[in-house]
Amino acid sequence: MQYETQVWEPTPEHIAQAAKLLRRGELVGMPTETVYGLAANALDEQAVAKIFAAKGRPMDNPLIVHIAKKEELGRIVREITPTVQKLVDAFWPGPLTMVLPRRPEISDAVTAGLDTVAVRLPSHPVARKLIEEAGVPLAAPSANTSGKPSPTRASHVYHDLKGKLPCILDGGSCQVGLESTVIAVGENSARILRPGRVTVGDLLKVVEQVQVDDGVFTKLEGNQKVASPGMKYKHYAPSAHVVMVDGSITQFCDYVRTHAQEGTAVLVFDREKSLFDLPVFTYGSFSDQESQASRLFDALRQMDERKDIKTVYARAPFRDEVGMAVYNRLLRACGFDVVDLKNKTHVYGLTGQTGAGKSTVADLLRKQGIGVVDCDLIAREVTQSPALLERLAKHFGKDILEHGKLNRQLLADRAFASKEATQRLNRIMFPPILKEAREQMDRLAAAGHRVILLDAPTLFESGADAQCDAVITVVAKDAVRCKRIMARDGLTKEQAQARMDAQLSREFLEEHSDYLLINDGTPEELKEQVLALAMKLKHPQLAGSGKGQDYGKG
Ligand code: TXA
Ligand code: MG
Repeated sequence: MQYETQVWEPTPEHIAQAAKLLRRGELVGMPTETVYGLAANALDEQAVAKIFAAKGRPMDNPLIVHIAKKEELGRIVREITPTVQKLVDAFWPGPLTMVLPRRPEISDAVTAGLDTVAVRLPSHPVARKLIEEAGVPLAAPSANTSGKPSPTRASHVYHDLKGKLPCILDGGSCQVGLESTVIAVGENSARILRPGRVTVGDLLKVVEQVQVDDGVFTKLEGNQKVASPGMKYKHYAPSAHVVMVDGSITQFCDYVRTHAQEGTAVLVFDREKSLFDLPVFTYGSFSDQESQASRLFDALRQMDERKDIKTVYARAPFRDEVGMAVYNRLLRACGFDVVDLKNKTHVYGLTGQTGAGKSTVADLLRKQGIGVVDCDLIAREVTQSPALLERLAKHFGKDILEHGKLNRQLLADRAFASKEATQRLNRIMFPPILKEAREQMDRLAAAGHRVILLDAPTLFESGADAQCDAVITVVAKDAVRCKRIMARDGLTKEQAQARMDAQLSREFLEEHSDYLLINDGTPEELKEQVLALAMKLKHPQLAGSGKGQDYGKG
């Protein structure tokens, strides 16, 4: 049957109408907090069969049953163990699906003949209202054509399924953006079959043991017995061929430069979009895995709007926390085609407003064993060069040199007095500083450092941010900084203010940074922030070809 598919605002009237359609055995496009679902009455075998037909879904891939109230669980599963109850109380409503022994009344059409059923209680108000009004549990897979990226907007559902269902409720874009975490539940343990917004760490707050199924990170063959049938299919794939390139940003850029051909595009993090002369798709920020989750599917869908694109090189995400889910989906989108570049060294740029405490942060990170390249120090070395001193004297006055030695204070007074003067200084200083910094970074990498801090007060102005995988910025309130600078450099309030004004704005820094350290409080508070950051930088769960893993409490 062909429908004139309508997209409805989720008004109470429309939700009631959609519920009526569901009771009559029709399909409805339903917003949830994860992705849009293609819902049918889970107790009506014919309605459920329509789901498989509309999506072109393999019949051996079971569906998730959605309920609106915790009490309804007992009507779907045989037993609610204490562990299941704890998980329900901790995560429902929300993006967690549990695979549990099913009651006989649940049809084989929903469970693909398995002895278990997947159940979830979504938190999206429209989904909950719709299930409640329908008065029946709803079977709902993601509302995409099988194999394509899951839909995170009503328009995605319309694009894939128009004509195949009467209506789609438009609940805006989905907050999480990736499908729910699917787990099998044991005694005080959980096994992750599909990672999602509910992470290993979240689950460990409730159960003692969490295992990650092998299928999350490795390719399962068609005939292999799998814990979650959905994991064996090609999925989330745009028409273009996606290749995940796992390396630092410099390695990634080098790789793309040597492999790009006509029809090549890249999928990178927001901050990196200006680094390429190719079509660019972005999916959130390097350090914010939730932003990656919410943007990935949309980015994969955007690729299909460009018919000229044949190959997309994608930046690999970290695979800890929500990143595990992002990595899992990207791995399937690229059909497990991963280029794993060796000796990855991630460079973190460190910058900050003058007087905000950047040097303190650099010292703390150095004490944590992180290799630091100090651009201030390099600047001092560079200004030993007579040729450079001569150029400085030409632009800022002969008196900045006293018997051939640089009067740094005088140069600073003149160069930081205005934006124009600062830029003039930068044009002279940046090229030799960047060259030396690059050499020092290469030496640290060769010595085995996998994490390097590039400490540069003018990271953005010099363009050195292009060589960084992420940027850490230290900021503090103007009044706090003004006092610090006056005391430190013996300046008047006006001079201090002029230096502050010559720098990039706080808005710019916030927008272009991955990690913001706010140093308005005590040194202890700053230290605490820096140590937490150091943990993250030193122990990144880098994307790779890991197998299933076990995690325990503590
Ligand atoms: O966030 C979500 O879970 C979305 C929204 C609409 O709720 N739904 C969703 O459904 O992603 P679907 O059908 O696209 O994915 C269901 C996944 C598949 O990987 C399937 O194999 C697995 O859950 N699954 C369902 N029943 C199962 C069972 N009894 N045992 C193991 N895995 C099961
Ligand atoms: Mg799906």
